[in-house]
Amino acid sequence: MDVNASSTVSQAQALNLRYGDGGEPAVQGPWNDVIATLLSHRSVRGFLPDALPAGTVETLVAAAQSASTSSNLQTWSVVAVTDPAKKAAMAKIANNQKHIEQCPVFLVWLADVSRNERLGAAEGVTLETIPHFETYLVAAIDAALAAQNATVAAESLGLNMVYIGALRNDPAEVGRLLNLPPGAMGVFGMCVGYPLPTVTNEVKPRLPQSAILYHNEYSTATEAADRAAYDKRMATFSQRHEMTQDTWTKRVIGRMQKIAAMSGRDKLVSILHGMGFPLR
Ligand SMILES: Cc1cc2nc3c(=O)[nH]c(=O)nc-3n(C[C@H](O)[C@H](O)[C@H](O)COP(=O)(O)O)c2cc1C
Repeated sequence: MDVNASSTVSQAQALNLRYGDGGEPAVQGPWNDVIATLLSHRSVRGFLPDALPAGTVETLVAAAQSASTSSNLQTWSVVAVTDPAKKAAMAKIANNQKHIEQCPVFLVWLADVSRNERLGAAEGVTLETIPHFETYLVAAIDAALAAQNATVAAESLGLNMVYIGALRNDPAEVGRLLNLPPGAMGVFGMCVGYPLPTVTNEVKPRLPQSAILYHNEYSTATEAADRAAYDKRMATFSQRHEMTQDTWTKRVIGRMQKIAAMSGRDKLVSILHGMGFPLR
């Protein structure tokens, strides 16, 4: 099934794809094409070289700028990378993820307090809040909200994408490659383009809502049963994709047990200090 054609998928089918058999919410609520597009999301890791239609990046950025932004501070920016040499360098930073070189446009989303710092300097004002961790967090949240709006816009246009957090393996080198000023940091990248016909296009199931949606207070009452059921669904999903039959439990442990799995990102705080983010 072409899950890009989200409007051809019924609500029940879309929920079944998102949660796997038996994991769907008990009640079906309101529904429309926007929600169908959201539920049809899946990351794509193989792209045709085809260029995006003229103006596409600008449309995605208009969608991104339409996201809420904390106090309208707009502490984010984005660099659209099309230069093959720069994409190759970014791929190298990100453990050689080939799709970074394949995609026609690689967007690097920045937590960027530098513009407002320049504003302060031009006005002869020291912005005392800039060095604080809270300000970095605001900037990183702003960048993520903007990027996700761009994602939804791209997918609504029949494009595909994948986020690239592995850029944080070496944020200082990303900064050098993109000529970033102090106070600007690539929080993640995003490949955008048309999928290779050979890529698998299935929606990846998520935890059942009982594991993440609480009413009035937090509860772990169903957590063990939810995880066991989700492990089964993810094992079936991964087997269908010719991966080793892998559970979510194994995946979480594999990614979170050892510091080595952070690919150098355990040093992020000291790297940020050197990039103009004191994080007080
Ligand atoms: C901030 C962020 C960083 C990510 N970084 C990578 C990455 O470096 N490489 C990759 O292949 N996928 C990356 N992903 C994609 C996730 O692996 C993917 O979203 C997740 O497995 C769920 O699959 P789905 O997007 O197909 O639903 C990233 C996702 C997010 C939100």
